[in-house]
Amino acid sequence: MNQELEKLKKQATEAIQKAASTATLTELDVRYLGRKGELTNMLRTLKDLPENERKKAGQALNAAKNELEQAFAHKRATLEKTALEASLKQEFFDITLPGTLRGHAIGTVHVLSQLQEEAERIFSQMGFMIVDGPEIESEYYNFESLNIPADHPARDMQDTFFIKQKRDASHGRLVLRTHTSPNQVRALEKYGAPIRMIVPGRVFRNEATDARHEHTFNQIEGMLIDKDISIATLKGIMKEFLSRLFGKEVEVRFRPGYFPFVEPGLELDFSCLLCESKGCRVCKNTGWVEFMGSGMTHENVLRASGVDPKIYQGWAFGFGLERLAMMRYGINDIRLFNGGDLRFIKQF
Ligand code: FA5
Repeated sequence: MNQELEKLKKQATEAIQKAASTATLTELDVRYLGRKGELTNMLRTLKDLPENERKKAGQALNAAKNELEQAFAHKRATLEKTALEASLKQEFFDITLPGTLRGHAIGTVHVLSQLQEEAERIFSQMGFMIVDGPEIESEYYNFESLNIPADHPARDMQDTFFIKQKRDASHGRLVLRTHTSPNQVRALEKYGAPIRMIVPGRVFRNEATDARHEHTFNQIEGMLIDKDISIATLKGIMKEFLSRLFGKEVEVRFRPGYFPFVEPGLELDFSCLLCESKGCRVCKNTGWVEFMGSGMTHENVLRASGVDPKIYQGWAFGFGLERLAMMRYGINDIRLFNGGDLRFIKQF
């Protein structure tokens, strides 16, 4: 047994010394010390030895096992250290460089959020409250309550995305809202008249994207309902809003427009600031920039909201935040806003 053990120890120690990788070392570990390893097998034969030899042989075998275990551990540590040193030589980095040399990357508020905050601040100063509403909306609020019946051709003006869910008997299917206008009705139901509010938010349309059209974009809705409210109030408020936003006097003008939830319906343009209304590429040489849809709130919308149109009247408007930012900063492609290109984002 002694001779056999010495031979095994010598063989194993030499093999451990020669091992060039931790994988080889693991193989050797299994071969000598594993459950069916050579030394383990010898330990198993102990019980067959005569009692007077068993103790001595047992001590010798355990001592050999400890020796081999230590040899494995030592060799493993050496191999790992060598591998680490080799990789450090390849991937050099200067650990003495101060951590702050490169500076900390600080994010910026997205240009659309900045613009939204500015608009909120100006409207708040003019006494408008800021209201929020759901992005997943019912057909009722998105269309019917706004005087757009299911079978009416006006439904085709805004194609949307439907949520796969059973139709509700009174509120229809769920859709991604196509505009912020459903909140005209929601806010009137909740707060009643008189009311002065804006609703900023994300809206969705099922349409092909191009440089001026996104499927997901932002609008700001506005509504003022009170007694003795006219289009003149709308003109005054919008002229004031745009002049404060751009920091200089802005002119506005109305053109007829069609939206089922207002009567009369109006498109509002403002004077081109890039060319001082002289005519340029942005205003297509007209001196005016198309800005938003608006009009006097339709009686049917007031009635659907529980407001008596004989007592109250008012107006509403809705404009796109992206288009406003494009005009303000001379951005030529709407897809840049959500494109994730930091070179674009970091400019603002
Ligand atoms: C509406 O969405 C009406 N709800 C606005 C309104 C409110 C009218 C209250 C009357 C009273 P329109 O579809 O024109 O209208 O959209 C309003 C603005 O959203 C547009 O002027 C434009 O700035 C922006 N917009 C519309 N479609 C897109 C699009 N696909 N991508 C980016 N901006 C868009």
